[in-house]
Amino acid sequence: MLVSAGPTFEAIDPVRGITNLSSGKMGFSMARAAREAGAEVTLVAGPVHLPTPRGVNRVNVQSALQMHCAVLQQVDASQVFIATAAVADWRPASAADQKIKKDGSGQTPHLSFIENPDILADVARSPRAVAGDLFCVGFAAESHDLLAHATAKRARKGVPLLVGNIGPATFGQDDNALLLVDSQGARELPHASKHHLARALIADIARRLA
Ligand code: C5P
Repeated sequence: MLVSAGPTFEAIDPVRGITNLSSGKMGFSMARAAREAGAEVTLVAGPVHLPTPRGVNRVNVQSALQMHCAVLQQVDASQVFIATAAVADWRPASAADQKIKKDGSGQTPHLSFIENPDILADVARSPRAVAGDLFCVGFAAESHDLLAHATAKRARKGVPLLVGNIGPATFGQDDNALLLVDSQGARELPHASKHHLARALIADIARRLA
């Protein structure tokens, strides 16, 4: 099982960058629960301060491009890909080699952005995923209309299972509530600790694979 987790960090210069509030806790809980259920687990982690779950193989990355590369390297050896990472949608078009200096003139730097690759969508359209040999699970952190957004995102990403949650309510917290959306409809996993929800979600995925 391959799990992506945490935020990504998109460099502006050697000392600055753009990131987000993802703590990585849900992804790390998924990796731990999968390992406890007997899976061999690789966790591709963005910059987070979390200990590696026991028995899990961890690959640390910073940027979305590095995460994309690490996931594509690992995915051929996987039967399941769970994308919990909060990947930055855009990165600065070019990172400065040296720190951008404030020169006292009041002028501000102009940043332009490039869209990052969609790691989950790329994996979901790979031949093994299309053939059903690789089961892909996406996450959606929304602020409202969870069912509608999660249903639309499942179709857009081309994944059999999309797990919705309310982002602002869960970022950094130890608990969460999930909405599992598949081709049949939606099922709620009510409010509980992320460890508890991760175990329930891994059990659900195992039933789908059986
Ligand atoms: O499009 P959005 O970021 O809301 O989609 C969220 C889902 O897609 C999550 O499963 C996330 O890990 C994944 N994703 C990705 N690569 C991106 C953006 C999102 O794998 N560049």
